[in-house]
Amino acid sequence: MIRKKIIKPKKVVKKAVKKPKLEKSKEEPIILQGLRGMKDVLPQDQSYWEQARRVAEKLARDYGFSRIDIPLVEFANLFTRNIGAGTDIVEKEMYAFTTRGGDKVALRPEFTAGICRSFIQHGMNVLSKPVKLFSIGPVYRYDRPQEGRFREHYQANYDAFGEEDSILDAQIIQLAHRFTQNLGIKNIQIQVNSIGCPICKKNYNSLLVNYLESKKNKLCQDCKRRLENNPLRALDCKEDKCFQVSAAAPQSVDHLCEECRTHFKTLLEYLDELDLPYSINSRLVRGLDYYTRTVFEIYSGTEDAKKNSLGGGGRYDRLIKTMGGEDTPAIGFAIGLERAIAEMKRVQAKPYKSPKPRVFLAQLGNLAKKKSLKLFSELEKNGILTAESFGRGSLKSQLKIANRLGVELTLILGQKETLDGTVLIKNMATGAQETVSADKLVDAIKKKLKTDNVIVLHNNNHE
Ligand code: HAM
Repeated sequence: MIRKKIIKPKKVVKKAVKKPKLEKSKEEPIILQGLRGMKDVLPQDQSYWEQARRVAEKLARDYGFSRIDIPLVEFANLFTRNIGAGTDIVEKEMYAFTTRGGDKVALRPEFTAGICRSFIQHGMNVLSKPVKLFSIGPVYRYDRPQEGRFREHYQANYDAFGEEDSILDAQIIQLAHRFTQNLGIKNIQIQVNSIGCPICKKNYNSLLVNYLESKKNKLCQDCKRRLENNPLRALDCKEDKCFQVSAAAPQSVDHLCEECRTHFKTLLEYLDELDLPYSINSRLVRGLDYYTRTVFEIYSGTEDAKKNSLGGGGRYDRLIKTMGGEDTPAIGFAIGLERAIAEMKRVQAKPYKSPKPRVFLAQLGNLAKKKSLKLFSELEKNGILTAESFGRGSLKSQLKIANRLGVELTLILGQKETLDGTVLIKNMATGAQETVSADKLVDAIKKKLKTDNVIVLHNNNHE
């Protein structure tokens, strides 16, 4: 007898499935607020920003500057070495961090060091001189936020390489002046100084240190420290007591070597020739260590704005060489866009006026709605700036919007027009209506709006 082996089904042992514990979220709540010292530029402010960008870019073209865009992040020592270890920017204001790969990097606190790095890296020294480079974008400084002082601010930055003659200094100062004039900020003061080359700077530094040492007990704590690592900076300290001391300090212009004196003298002659509103400020030293010879700052003359410079710059003839490049003199400056825009508002300068649509496209019924998107794109391709409100169904509400926008023509695409391959053109001023064939529509609109006007030029600069 064959015994059938009875295979018993294996008992399925039910494993106790662990229910996932609902862990309490340890994440911090999202703070719905931008970081301190950083601002959104909202749509209602964009007309000022657009104007500032347009002025910056037009002047760059007019003065022969080519645009360069450099990364926001660089190796941190590019800044610490070249801006200077004893400067506020490097000591207190850098956004520096170590990447996952272990690189020590920093958000750029200014453009110049990065532009010099790029100049050397890409062998721009072989280009015909001067090599003029223009940049625009944000920079980061962990400063104490206050009026006109942000942790993220935008600069329009101009740097020119390879020319030592002071005529270039004058042209750069002229460009900074034109910038403010073109923005509509007419009342401007330019301050200039010469801090000399490394040789006269060294002699002057020791004279200054001797003087400051003799007044040490009258200086603020910061300036006592500056005496050790950056005595020049004591000259532009805003503390009252330091201001009193620096008023009687030896002046760099009195201690320039022969070459630096001639350089400064000819610069002043050029500035006179240009009739620029400048004055010599012997305490102007700038907050970055790389400067030599010419330094300058530009201020608005309005009372409220006097404490903050709109822009500043100067020569940095040794920087490219100290960074490892060929000996290349250079000069540049940057304008702070937030400050320039605040000043435009203060003096009620005109912002950019964006072109307004002169045509409205209204549609009625499902079929027309479907066709209207294509028609809209046809008008756009032909440079006819058109407004619409595709989400609305009723003709009345669409015409209301057309009226509010003040357009000259409304195109009406209804069921009948769609089937006939036509469009109704309504003159909003007279109420007159005309039906035109869809393939002749573009020409008909151009004719009605006096052809040339309808191609909305996007460079209506209000300088
Ligand atoms: P800077 O004077 O440090 O120069 O900055 C230029 C301009 O940026 C200032 O005049 C100001 O308008 C604006 N600015 C500076 N810091 C702030 C801030 N915390 N908040 C708002 N605006 C600010 C430089 O950066 C040099 N790299 C300029 C230069 C270019 N020199 C030679 N080439």
